[in-house]
Amino acid sequence: MRKYLATAAGAVLALASAASAAAPTAPGDVKFDDLEISASLTGQPGDPAKGREVFAGRSLGNCLACHANADLSKELFHGEVGPELTDVGSRYEEAQLRAIVVNPKHVFGEETVMPAFYRIINDQRVRKDLADKPILTAEQVEDLVAYLVTLKEQ
Ligand code: HEC
Repeated sequence: MRKYLATAAGAVLALASAASAAAPTAPGDVKFDDLEISASLTGQPGDPAKGREVFAGRSLGNCLACHANADLSKELFHGEVGPELTDVGSRYEEAQLRAIVVNPKHVFGEETVMPAFYRIINDQRVRKDLADKPILTAEQVEDLVAYLVTLKEQ
């Protein structure tokens, strides 16, 4: 009997870990609620420390190319095309930040120069090998959102 119980507990654990590794929401399935996306794309909270790397990484978010951020002032020169993000976590809710990163065109309009980081772009100008993937993965978007909410006014 004891042996049977142990096996049953093992099966429940295996099920739980399978559920937490569920596939992330695909770019085409992301649902906006007005100007917000309230659900995590991965079903899990992101990791702010990894999100900080996504923010600064030139082959990742490269957010510094357009945005100043005092938390990363020691990094190389930043751009000023977009607003400073030093306290962006005081100005927006998590669900709004997720919507901006996923597709700023939905939030600010088609004219914005900010790229959509979680959208498949069917545009002939995009390199073929990049045309079927978003710039960031769902996990990287969640890490980034988790980092952005930490950027509060001091
Ligand atoms: C090519 C330039 C560019 C890049 C790269 C870029 N952004 Fe932006 N971003 C903008 C501009 C411009 C705006 C202002 C919205 C508008 O009017 O177009 C903006 C607005 C924002 C806002 C709203 C800020 C506010 O104060 O209202 C957030 C949040 C944001 N960006 C986050 C990011 C993050 C995170 C990244 C990296 C993943 C990023 N941006 C990359 C240009 C950029």
